[in-house]
Formats: sequence, C-alpha cells, structure tokens
Amino acid sequence: MTTPPPFQRHDGWLHAEGVPLARIAEEVGTPVYVYCATALAERYDALDAAFAGVPHLIAYSIKSNPNLAVVRTLLNRGAGVDVTSKGELFRALHAGGAASRMVYSGVGKRDDEIEAALEAGIKMFNVESRAELRRIDAVAARLGVVAPIAFRVNPDIDPQTHPYISTGLRTSKFGIPFGEAVAAYAEAKTLEHVRAIGIDCHIGSQLTNVQPFGDALARVAELVRDLRDAGHAIEVIDVGGGLGVVYEDEVPPTMQEYAAVVSDAVAGLDCELVLEPGRSISANAGVFLTRVLYEKRNEDKHFIVVDGAMTDLIRPALYQVYQAIEPVGPPRQTLHVVDVVGPVCESGDFLAKERQLPAVERGELLAVRSAGAYGFTMASNYNGRPRSAEVLVRGDRFEVVKRRETLEDLIRGETIPEELTR
Ligand code: LLP
Repeated sequence: MTTPPPFQRHDGWLHAEGVPLARIAEEVGTPVYVYCATALAERYDALDAAFAGVPHLIAYSIKSNPNLAVVRTLLNRGAGVDVTSKGELFRALHAGGAASRMVYSGVGKRDDEIEAALEAGIKMFNVESRAELRRIDAVAARLGVVAPIAFRVNPDIDPQTHPYISTGLRTSKFGIPFGEAVAAYAEAKTLEHVRAIGIDCHIGSQLTNVQPFGDALARVAELVRDLRDAGHAIEVIDVGGGLGVVYEDEVPPTMQEYAAVVSDAVAGLDCELVLEPGRSISANAGVFLTRVLYEKRNEDKHFIVVDGAMTDLIRPALYQVYQAIEPVGPPRQTLHVVDVVGPVCESGDFLAKERQLPAVERGELLAVRSAGAYGFTMASNYNGRPRSAEVLVRGDRFEVVKRRETLEDLIRGETIPEELTR
C-alpha cells in the first residue's frame, strides 16, 4: 500500500505529511528546507522492492542530500552509501553507516582520502584512471592491505540530459575509455595491493529515458564476459545512479521499468548489483520554503523578491532548470507572470522565471518543490548569507535537523593577521 504524496494541501494549505508548512516557517524561520522521512523511506523501499529478484546493494548517493538525519533514515531501511570524498565518508560513518556497505567514486581521490577509506574498510573503490589505480595500490601497500576496486568505465553513451550532468560521453572527464578497460584490468592484476572485484558505470543524472541505461549496461555486460574470459573474477556490477524524477512534466521511468532494463542487461552474469541512486530517492521528498519580501515592477518585468536565493538553491540559476513553485497558502484564481528572485547581487539569482503565480503579499510563503536533492548541499555563504535551516518531518511531528547558520558561523575559522590591526 502506498501512502499519499508527502506534500499535499489540507484546507487549502500546503502540508508536509501531517505538518502545515506555515507552522514550520513560523517556528523555524525562513528560508528553510523541509524533508519528509516517510517519502524518503518509501522511495528507498520501492527501489529495493523493484530489485528484489537480484542480489543488490542500494548505495545511496550521499551527495544528493547529505544531512545526517536524511542519511540515517535511509540507513535504517538498509541502505549503503556512495561517497565521493573524505568528507562524505566522514558523514556517512557519522550517520551510522557501515563502511563495508560503502563505495567510493570520484575522479580526484587524494592519498589521504584513499587512506581514510581503506582504514574504514569500504566495500570498493570505483577507480577512474590507471594513475589512480597505482596510487591506490601504493597507499594500500603502505597500510599493508589489499584494496577492492572496480574500474569506472565510460561507455560513450549519450544520457540525453543536461550537459553539466552528463558523465558517460567520450568527452567527459569520468571513467576510463571502454577500449582501455581490458588493459587496465590486466595492469590491476600485476599489482599486489589491489583486487579488481567489479566494474562500474554511471552515465549521468536526471535520465528520463531508460534506453541509455540499457545501452550502457549492454556494453558493460559484454565487457564483463570479455574480462572473465581474460581470467578476471568480476563479481560486482555498479550501475551508478541517474534515474530521473518529475520536476515539471517529465515522464521518468518507474522504478520497476528501470529495474527491468537493468536486470535484463546483466541477466545471466550472476553478479551482485550496486545501485547509486541520489535524486530518485531524495528530490521529491523535500521542499524549500521562502518568504516574500517585496513585489516590484521594472519596465515590463514583474518581480517577486523573496528571502531565499541562489545561495540556498542554485539549481535554477546554474542549470536554468525548472523547479515548481507555489504559495503555501490557498490557491487563487487570478495568476500573473512573474520572476521569483532572491536578494543576491547577481542577475542570475532567480528561483523561477516567467511563472504564473497569484498576487502574493509581503510575508507570504512560497514553496519550491523537488528541492530534496542537490539543494542545501550546493548552498554557499556568498553575499554574507548564513545557510538555511533543515527540518525533517515524520508524520505529524517535525524536528530541526540542521540549525540555521549564525553570523558567527560566517566568520568561523577566519583570522586577521595581527600586524594588520596595528
Ligand atoms: N553516482 C555517481 C558516480 C554520480 O556522479 C552521481 C551524481 C550519482 C551516483 C547520483 O546520481 P543521481 O541518482 O542523483 O542522478 N547537481 C546536479 C546533479 C549532479 C549529479 C552528480 N553525480 C543537479 O542538481 O541536477
């Protein structure tokens, strides 16, 4: 049985599960991110169920929303974690994750990061170059351990998504070229402190078509057969993340459709699957709440100036993507075409452009939807803006799971050289 969507209207007012968003804004202030624990767990469970027929590990891509309470919600459902830095590893461990259920991806792993991951005892490194392979071997040798690895291969498949989040094209910085894979595995075999146990492939994010997943994994499956023929024991296939979600009117594959295409592609290989979903778990489990400060009209433009900005939620500015935005209060008939902009001194600082919204008053709350992934985690302090609070809702209760930053937080760690003060 599925529960209703996490953000719904009751008596006209938008709620997060059983909690009125207006109450959260009142008590916690704005801007604020609000996540629904039930929605997070449900998305996780749905993916888990879709892959029930195949041995698998869902390694939640922590980059999409690394809040400890969010991560713990998923760990409690059985998730592993996909990390890409020592910082994410630290977070994942701090949230209570087991390193043996973590994979480590990323093109620029430093020695100290490799060391931290080895010391923690991660499940496997996704290796993005042969130079990195040698570094991992060297660090593992120093520690007297053997590092489990997979090569991230680049299948040269167009994921048909935004160029900044396409990663599986020949021209991207990610992975090793398909043609080099056999030689790379052969080299790994000559090194004493690495053991190639798997293969990895992540082609991009926000894919709304299953075909590229199928095409990429068909190539991976072929490679697994070649590698086995060459004597490499490949036991794990990491299929990355990338499953798209609805922001506007997309029709992304369902988790069942996604699972069917992935399982078909790797059928008969008898491998454990690792999945690295981020957005498909977290995006629609969160909203970003902001308050209207001013309304202003310049020439032909009609602006709603709000207290949230690109520093809080950069996706619209950075990728020119759509995130739905609506008043938290009751819907109204008459709509106006407006730009919703923040206070930051950049024309790129907008949350929405040319959107239809009702007339809003100063103090009114707006909710930006689909903000649970790549929202707070990409926030900055630019323009002297403390980062917003984060709230987790469970049923009819809510809790602040990250307090709003203070002015003191803004200058923490900075010093003025003594001679400048004389
Ligand atoms: N695995 C790897 C190796 C990745 O690079 C990523 C995302 C994921 C998994 C998770 O992908 P997901 O399931 O979330 O699509 N900031 C951008 C998205 C960047 C994605 C980076 N890599 C955005 O806001 O759209």
